[in-house]
Amino acid sequence: MHNFKLNRELAQLAIHQRIELCSPILKRLRKIFGRYLFSTFLSKYLINPNEISKKYYNLMEKELLLIEKYFVHNSKVLSIGSGIGGVEVLLNKKFNTHISLIEKNYVSKKIKYGWDEKNQEAYNNINLLEKFLINNGVEKKNINLFDFDKDKLPNDKFDVIISLYSLDYHYDFEIYKDYLLKVLKPDSILILDTVRPGYFNEIFNKIDVIKEDVDTVHKSKRIACRNLKFK
Ligand SMILES: C[S@@+](CC[C@H](N)C(=O)[O-])C[C@H]1O[C@@H](n2cnc3c(N)ncnc32)[C@H](O)[C@@H]1O
Repeated sequence: MHNFKLNRELAQLAIHQRIELCSPILKRLRKIFGRYLFSTFLSKYLINPNEISKKYYNLMEKELLLIEKYFVHNSKVLSIGSGIGGVEVLLNKKFNTHISLIEKNYVSKKIKYGWDEKNQEAYNNINLLEKFLINNGVEKKNINLFDFDKDKLPNDKFDVIISLYSLDYHYDFEIYKDYLLKVLKPDSILILDTVRPGYFNEIFNKIDVIKEDVDTVHKSKRIACRNLKFK
């Protein structure tokens, strides 16, 4: 398999979550017609779902290569802001992970990328996310889905928590800090992309830098943190 099974709705979500999947023409049209028309119409009808599927699959394979050393067979994983869940599918396939996913269940009408002080921007649909995972081979018993705005979040301890281009990339780590204190074990690993890596040196004892995006749309560092300094 070198692509994912996804329909037009899911391809549109993938574009919102990974703007690098957007063709240069579509990016120009976004500039010309504005965020509302882009978010609601252009990103849905001016795309080729098969092409997006292949590009998204390649991107997720690269993400897997970067983070796979932190997983073992049967790792218990939490993904915060998973998007439609491409890397989660690949992790499940390779390591038989059980994955809990926390997401928001709406798409902003005028999507604004970048840091979101109020954490109001969202671009997902939890039913479609579930469909994507199942259609791409993840068994239902291996996933639990949570709506950040409505559900009680899972209270288990996780081996690895990932948040690619979500927590502390778009919104403040403080929103999840107390929750993470409950679900991280001392040896759990938290992998995230952050726009302020220095902050994590203060609250974790051990940090590996996985990658640094300097010249891309995702200006940030991906870090793996261990051993939160419990208060
Ligand atoms: C840039 S996308 C990244 C998606 C995916 N992790 C990836 O790497 O392709 C950010 C995601 O975070 C989600 N999000 C926003 N606020 C959130 C919150 N408080 N909790 C969980 N997810 C959130 C958005 O809906 C969106 O799907």
